Amino acid sequence: MRITRAGWAIMTVLSTLIVLLAARYAGLDPDDFFSEQRATYLAHELPLAVHISGAAVALAVGPWQFAARLRRRWPRLHRVLGVIYLLGCLVGGAGALLLAPVAYGGAVARLGFACLGAAWLVTGGIGLRMILRRRVEDHRRWMVRSFALTFAAVTLRLMLGAAKAADLDFRTSYLVIAWLCWVPNLVLACWFTRPRPGRA
Ligand code: HEM
Repeated sequence: MRITRAGWAIMTVLSTLIVLLAARYAGLDPDDFFSEQRATYLAHELPLAVHISGAAVALAVGPWQFAARLRRRWPRLHRVLGVIYLLGCLVGGAGALLLAPVAYGGAVARLGFACLGAAWLVTGGIGLRMILRRRVEDHRRWMVRSFALTFAAVTLRLMLGAAKAADLDFRTSYLVIAWLCWVPNLVLACWFTRPRPGRA
């Protein structure tokens, strides 16, 4: 799969905007918290801080790993950013698994976030394993899948915004979007990176 310049630019701008939006949590000021979850976040400040700091690093760094020119010119930078991205996934994913059981929206939303967190850790882990075995094509495939899941942070917020604009019930939209923000991303990523015989 080759990403177009416009596609890459949109993905990078959206990812950066969500990182900036998440930065409001840096001071752990309850007034900035997602209002329905204020009490929960106050009781789980450490996992919240761990989750957001790791996940924000992964979302900020991830898009740059897809810039082919950067990768070709500075392969060492690609490796350094890759390690930072995977550490972000590891820390953000561990925090996500701690937060998932207390997420808003009840069991359906919680299961959706827990599956996303687990899939996020697994795809990143396999991506790392592939490059350590020098299986470059498989590494590329799994890292596309990993970032498609990281990008769920963007699709989640776009979908929540659309649901709000359409005046849909927040709780119902939230539990549907807890799945819808990542399953289509993963399906598309798997489709675009499917092994095709005869293609190196
Ligand atoms: C891709 C795997 C991710 C999983 C499984 C995940 C999981 C979660 C969960 C379970 C919560 C609590 C939600 C609730 O209280 O209802 C949460 C909150 C949050 N996450 Fe993530 N997350 C992921 C990625 C990210 C990324 C990449 C960012 C980017 C910075 C991010 C930023 C946040 C923020 C800011 C909150 C606080 C709630 C809000 O204001 O939206 N997450 N996440």
